[in-house]
Amino acid sequence: MTDLQEGADLETLARRVDDALAAVAGLDPAARTAAEELRAALEEIHRAGLVTIVTRMRADDAARPLLFDLVDDPVVRMLLTLHGIIRPDPVTLAERALAAVRPQLHSHGGDVTLDRVADGVAFVRLEGACNGCSMSSVTLRELVESALLQAVPAISAVEVLPNEPTPTIIPIESVSFRRAADPEAEGWVRVARADAVPVGEVSVHGSDVLVVNVDQRLSAYRNECAHEALPLDNAVLDVSAGTLTCPWHGFCYDASSGECLSAPGVQLEQLPLRVEDGDVWVRVGP
Ligand code: FES
Repeated sequence: MTDLQEGADLETLARRVDDALAAVAGLDPAARTAAEELRAALEEIHRAGLVTIVTRMRADDAARPLLFDLVDDPVVRMLLTLHGIIRPDPVTLAERALAAVRPQLHSHGGDVTLDRVADGVAFVRLEGACNGCSMSSVTLRELVESALLQAVPAISAVEVLPNEPTPTIIPIESVSFRRAADPEAEGWVRVARADAVPVGEVSVHGSDVLVVNVDQRLSAYRNECAHEALPLDNAVLDVSAGTLTCPWHGFCYDASSGECLSAPGVQLEQLPLRVEDGDVWVRVGP
């Protein structure tokens, strides 16, 4: 057996392959066909030998640890991957699939991160324009889902996780309340104790005032959907997405601003809100 020497590094080897392929591409058709046939035959021989080595080592208790060590070597890993003997793990494939669609997401102000892959399900978090219920966010979600399902055979479903809530507090301007001599005369009504509107709650007062609490940030709205003015009593508040969805036909709103995410330029009527001594006051009159 001849002495084995340390080989060249991966980058040098890859460059040699690229240079050789470029040279082959420049050959006349007959020479190119012969060169490609030679390459295919050599690859077949290498693959047959590698399959034998891997199969024997995997079956041998003493050799198996060495095989797993070798697979971690970048050149060996690339070689076995090129010959289809090992396949990239689902997480690597999923990260690659997401990297391919990320420029498209960024161009729309969105992003995605892979949380984990488990039992055939990819768990992702969507950010920016991908998050919410506007038409564009739905399209971006579908883009992420189809990229993962097409690129990763081991993934059969995609689940969107809620984003980590960003801690926020009731804004200071809401806490400091200009004490009016007669607040009721100025159109203010006391609607609830602040601690009676817990996070994630949609609270209706006197049938025409809606108060929502998103991460301790209170907002008040006229209890009328901007679509057909139907009441929002049973609206769904998604704290992680910061959205409020009308139960009637699904119009979706930014829960903190009332901006409609389903129809541009449409808005819930937001009512001034103040907190004084733990009481929530909303101005319903002029
Ligand atoms: S009334 Fe709310 S979506 Fe139609």
